[in-house]
Amino acid sequence: MLVIGIAGGTGSGKTTVVNKMLNELPNKEVGIISQDSYYKATDNLSYEERTKINFDHPNSIDFELLVEHLKKLKSGEAIDQPVYSFVTHNRTKDTHRTHPTKVFIVEGILIFNNPELRDLCDIKIFVHADADERLIRRLKRDIQERGRDMNEVLNRYQDTLKPMHNQFIEPTKNFADIIIPNDRYNTVAVDIVRTVINDKLN
Ligand code: CTP
Repeated sequence: MLVIGIAGGTGSGKTTVVNKMLNELPNKEVGIISQDSYYKATDNLSYEERTKINFDHPNSIDFELLVEHLKKLKSGEAIDQPVYSFVTHNRTKDTHRTHPTKVFIVEGILIFNNPELRDLCDIKIFVHADADERLIRRLKRDIQERGRDMNEVLNRYQDTLKPMHNQFIEPTKNFADIIIPNDRYNTVAVDIVRTVINDKLN
């Protein structure tokens, strides 16, 4: 199994890059795991307490389970991915049965921060977007899709997202094999990765 790790700050457009890569590839042969699914379960906390969690700190992620799942997939076993809710800020009771495939993409802001997870990635890609672009995307998305208001998003950006990005995410760019700019000029970079994936599939 070939594991491709895709990191990059919030709103950098990791999802768009993943979709561009998957375009024209036989989908069932490429699996995806998102770090977002592995936020720690917080059943013991109230909703109010959960909204105060620092979701951009490595401690908020259940890396132990994520690594265990990836290892299982690598050895040919199926896993049950947790399903996370951004509305309740908690893990749901659902799981998502995931089978091993020849190529597996792991995507998330902090995935290169964990040494074990980093070592499991055969190819490490970092998606770069300028901070202002990321903030604009994040603002639009949180308001449109996650029911937050402008002040809430901007306060969280200043108090948490920006310092966490500088401390835990941006430095992991150094581990990347490829840095993809997230704009319309990234066609060549995306094509290169797609060729590598295709080679593995054939
Ligand atoms: N987050 C949140 N509420 C939660 C849990 C996480 O708002 N209950 C936020 C964290 O603050 C973190 C972000 O989710 O910054 C991580 O997701 P992000 O990388 O922004 O989303 P993707 O769609 O994976 O990435 P991209 O925008 O690059 O496509």
